[in-house]
Amino acid sequence: MLKTVFSGIQPSGTLTLGNYLGAMKNFVEMQEEANCYFCIVDQHAITVPQDRLKLRENIRSLAALYLAVGIDPEKSTLFIQSEVPAHAQLGWMMQCTSYIGELERMTQFKDKSDGKEAVSAALLTYPPLMAADILLYKTDIVPVGEDQKQHLELTRDLAERFNKKYNEIFTIPEVKIPKVGARIMSLNDPSKKMSKSNPNVKSFISMLDEPATIRKKIKSAVTDTDGEIRLDRENKAAVSNLLTIYSLCSGLSIDEIVAKYEGKGYGDFKADLAEVVIQELEPVQARYHELLQSDELDQILDRGAEKANRAANKMIEKAERAMGLGRKRR
Ligand code: TYM
Repeated sequence: MLKTVFSGIQPSGTLTLGNYLGAMKNFVEMQEEANCYFCIVDQHAITVPQDRLKLRENIRSLAALYLAVGIDPEKSTLFIQSEVPAHAQLGWMMQCTSYIGELERMTQFKDKSDGKEAVSAALLTYPPLMAADILLYKTDIVPVGEDQKQHLELTRDLAERFNKKYNEIFTIPEVKIPKVGARIMSLNDPSKKMSKSNPNVKSFISMLDEPATIRKKIKSAVTDTDGEIRLDRENKAAVSNLLTIYSLCSGLSIDEIVAKYEGKGYGDFKADLAEVVIQELEPVQARYHELLQSDELDQILDRGAEKANRAANKMIEKAERAMGLGRKRR
């Protein structure tokens, strides 16, 4: 039977090369062999403060980016989370299935709440909403980057707990993390992941950066002093990260790249890397700008929401019946 795939991205800023290489780029090939749902998770984005106008802009921008990289609305369902109320409904039921202790142990919660005084309750209950996203569609596979692994483990636990306690209605999803590119690191600190919320713009390459900006950022990326271009994630984390990016954007293997730059310095390597990244992003950017101008985007999102609502409402009915909510129907 055709497998179902679900993944989501927060519209909380312009996507980085990390989002692209760790997640989005891999979504495209999955469309050929599975029934795919790709979601713009705006309700997850508001777990931290957002500017209302900027959020609206980011939602549209993310929709256009999904399409620009090759998500085909004829094959996949592309939609906005808040336009499918079942997500919040099942999210609540999943909160009722979660324990505070397990939510407090999530590393993303710890990182995002660390040192902050005013932390929203929703930052803690973020993972049950994510579980709801996934479980609504009988998802078999969830393609994500490494940082989402813990959330996926919790999703599986919640689904199993619910199935055992109420009724066997949920499919237990498998996580799919790419072998290469699951954790693209920051350009100026290779111990941290590349992140769109990092205030230092030099730390990441945005999917919409201009060629000149990409050249500048890669030129100033940190390396090391031994001058050798080779893969060694422990001792040469920065160079290894650049090699990973090079490989994923060019299609060359790491070994091929290492051979190509034997005896050459970081200067040549970085200059070529910038061109490889530009070549990968340029067609995506061109299509993105076209899509933003067209009416196509709204029509696609309307159709996506319609399809997602139909599928999700069936699961809501099952979940409410399993938990005993509302009145007996029929
Ligand atoms: P988000 O919006 O932070 O990131 C979107 C996707 O990009 C991946 N990613 C990375 N991969 C490699 N290297 C990096 N530096 C990097 N940074 C981000 C993420 O792993 C993710 O796959 N909680 C999710 C959104 C979400 C979701 C879902 C995902 C909500 N509901 C249901 C899957 C299924 C998040 O914040 O992703």
